[in-house]
Amino acid sequence: MKIVITNDHAATELKTELLFHLLGKGHTVEDMGSNGDRAEYPQLAHAAAKKIADGEFEFGVFLCGTGAGMCIAANKVHGIRAIVCTEPFTAKLAREHNDAQVLCIGARVVGRELAKMIVDEFIEAKFEGGRHATRVETFMAFESRQA
Ligand code: RB5
Repeated sequence: MKIVITNDHAATELKTELLFHLLGKGHTVEDMGSNGDRAEYPQLAHAAAKKIADGEFEFGVFLCGTGAGMCIAANKVHGIRAIVCTEPFTAKLAREHNDAQVLCIGARVVGRELAKMIVDEFIEAKFEGGRHATRVETFMAFESRQA
């Protein structure tokens, strides 16, 4: 898979863990995040989410202190469906039912081994389509009408 990863200064260590984890699984990963310098999550999330919306990457892993700021900012980009996740079950269902492309994790909330499990469930799950596609189309139409 082609994955973009980004992070602010609160999540540099977790980013490094997840970056090597994903590379080790054979994914292509671009790192657009901070390597320790103070960095603002709104700009970071916007830049990486735009690349997904433009079709350059299939998925995003966005990391900050709580995951919340990255998630809110990512969802402001047209076409993006981002979630904050603290456990693998929601990560899996967010792909299967909601067709989310961006997974946000809080480095101050989730430990690194749990974060790897969450990322794996998200990346490996497939959107089920069918009745779920109708629901996703419905909420994406709300976004288009507001544009
Ligand atoms: C940075 O201190 C912190 O606000 C940020 O990482 C994130 O948690 C925001 O949602």
